Amino acid sequence: MKLTGPFAQIVTLDKLPLRGKISDDELEIITNGGILTENGKIIEVGNFEKLKQNFPNAEIDLIENEQIAVPAFVDAHTHICFGGNRANDFAMRNAGKSYLEIAESGGGIWSSVLHTRQATEEELAEFTSLKINELIKQGVTTIEIKSGYGLNADEELKMLRAIKKASEKTKATIVPTCLSAHLKPKDFSGNSEDYLNYILKEILPKVKEEKLADRVDIFIEKSAFQPEESKVFLLKAKEMGFQLTVHADQFTSGSSRIAVEVGAKSADHLEATTDNDIDFLAKSETVAIALPGASLGLGEPFSPARKILDKGGILAIATDWNPGSAPMGNLVAQASILATYQKLSTAEVLSAITFRAAFALDLEDRGILAKGKKADFVIYETGNFQNILYHQGSLKPKNIYINGEKPGI
Ligand code: NIG
Ligand code: FE
Repeated sequence: MKLTGPFAQIVTLDKLPLRGKISDDELEIITNGGILTENGKIIEVGNFEKLKQNFPNAEIDLIENEQIAVPAFVDAHTHICFGGNRANDFAMRNAGKSYLEIAESGGGIWSSVLHTRQATEEELAEFTSLKINELIKQGVTTIEIKSGYGLNADEELKMLRAIKKASEKTKATIVPTCLSAHLKPKDFSGNSEDYLNYILKEILPKVKEEKLADRVDIFIEKSAFQPEESKVFLLKAKEMGFQLTVHADQFTSGSSRIAVEVGAKSADHLEATTDNDIDFLAKSETVAIALPGASLGLGEPFSPARKILDKGGILAIATDWNPGSAPMGNLVAQASILATYQKLSTAEVLSAITFRAAFALDLEDRGILAKGKKADFVIYETGNFQNILYHQGSLKPKNIYINGEKPGI
């Protein structure tokens, strides 16, 4: 048993609602706090001195100076397994070309596919490990990672095996997702419906067999897959036992509705979601995941996070870290920027990158510092938790704990 503390503040995020708005005075803040852990789990969170008295045999992990603790962060949407680089897309876009124009002229997702296909499984695993470690240093200890730059059976399986290899090398929790339905590959002979059927027949059974992912994603958009064919695909994937998530309403609206109708765990993006669709989504169990990194990368509007919360929806925030639309990969910076544009309380932002994001990944054992939860937490050298978002990503964690231990990276 180990007692870590004393902390000037522990922001537990305990006893907060899963959905809807939250005001900062609802936050539980324990001053002079301690976190008692054993076998990767939290035994107790409370006053440091009292815990010390009650558990005299606990090893003391002494925290010096003024420090605070919050639950470790969850990034519920990334594409950090890829080859190549799309700096030229970024430059072209800023020089006036649109995302779709760049895609049509040989950049975009397809160029990442060509580079990813050139990389070996080992190279991809190494690259993904580097990105995972960058996220851990930011305090992110649960990371979803999508395939989607392979776009045929061999290459998608290569990506998912690389993600599995990287996950075996880290103490962070990696949640893999099969995004073979990212785009119909240019070298596939057949229409998009044929390609979706190919995924169902040739890719998903192997993903299951090798236990490479339990989740399936699709990009529903004019330039990718159309609503009706996507719905059929998602329902078939669900029948095969996969959980669902959708790239929804990024440029055109309508697909978050499909995400809700098929019972997806999350609908991600939502930059173009209409008020009616926000209503529908906010009443559902489907988590609305805002991806401010994609808005910043593309110069698009931010997702309507405020409206989603006001209507009672479950809001999470993720980086969408990918080589094209969201190259930054800084969860706290992006969440903090979204807060300034969408007027989100600190409690809403912290919830959106912890337990609400964990819910989207079907992981309800984390994101809250309370008895029985996974002992993943981040500590900062400051006396006031408000400094985390205030510094917009430039206040770096002092230490990260995964299962009660420093991961040593
Ligand atoms: O989430 N929108 C589709 N997919 C990614 C972009 C991936 C890429 O551009 O490589 C996204 O933004
Ligand atoms: Fe994405």
